[in-house]
Amino acid sequence: MPDTVATTVRLGLYLDLMLLFGLPMFGLYTLRGAERQSGSVLRFRPFLATVALVGIGLSVLGVMVLAASMGGVTIGEVDRATVSMLVSGTTIGTVWQVRIAALLLVLYFSVIGWRRPTFALAALSITAAVALSTLAWTGHGAADEGTLGWIHLGADITHLLAAGIWIGALCGLCLLIFRSAERMAADHIVLSHRALDGFARVGSIVVGLLLVSGIVNSWILIGPSRLSALFTTLYGILLLAKLLFFGAMLLLAGANRFFLTPALAAALERGDGEAAIRALRRSLLIESSCAFAILALVAWLGQLAPPASAM
Ligand code: HEM
Repeated sequence: MPDTVATTVRLGLYLDLMLLFGLPMFGLYTLRGAERQSGSVLRFRPFLATVALVGIGLSVLGVMVLAASMGGVTIGEVDRATVSMLVSGTTIGTVWQVRIAALLLVLYFSVIGWRRPTFALAALSITAAVALSTLAWTGHGAADEGTLGWIHLGADITHLLAAGIWIGALCGLCLLIFRSAERMAADHIVLSHRALDGFARVGSIVVGLLLVSGIVNSWILIGPSRLSALFTTLYGILLLAKLLFFGAMLLLAGANRFFLTPALAAALERGDGEAAIRALRRSLLIESSCAFAILALVAWLGQLAPPASAM
């Protein structure tokens, strides 16, 4: 069985850092002008500041978990010397320091930057992208050397950022659409429809990036000559399960784009968006659950030795 604490912390970090990157990006490609102001449509400031603080806490816990597993002790028995050696004497330690610095900048911009909302969302997206990218060094993404090493790292960072945009968009759409009836005024439903449309366009690029970077990852970590390992190893079976959830997300996203969002537009014309909103809520909830399942699966398989390294 995987180290449950390490897997849970990694799952928490995936979710936290993807929301920190994906939600400001969502604000940039779906909202306009004053809509981007925190509290106007979405309460960016309290949400992102809280998620940034949680991200710092999870990163500190993550380095403790790593120090504990290096020392073969429990988290409670970890000594300061091991942690400082890890933080100041290893590549993972340097990457961790970069993440903490980026998260402190995210915290700063999420609290201070709202006099110019577009600048704030851009600064938040860039600093959060740095924090999210650092996860590639703590998984299999940094397992190779030389040119192959850079290709793997590049593919893994692209994969993390693309996944972050999708998961951030699901969060943004849920925050827009799961509101009490009195807060679902007609103009808000129109804006939600526009946001759904806005993500549909970005979504195609995200799926393309996930497929290409995912295939590169699979090629390096499994390899064309070991495809049978997909059915005979725990790593392979978890990856297949992940691809099934990915398939389900693709179907749901397609249904949103080609059926449910146009149905909402038609319902808005008729002035009764309630049924269309209910259908979208159901679909977004299932899609978000699939995304969560994918992150849980990769948090687990990231702890296992991939078939290519089992040679
Ligand atoms: C919504 C879709 C997807 C999400 C949210 C997602 C998310 C992730 C995340 C968070 C990682 C871990 C990266 C790391 O820790 O360094 C990962 C790794 C990976 N993903 Fe995906 N992914 C998605 C789709 C795909 C697809 C379509 C493929 C294959 C074509 C794929 C193949 C892989 C592989 C092989 C890894 C490496 C696992 C490892 O670290 O051993 N993913 N994915």
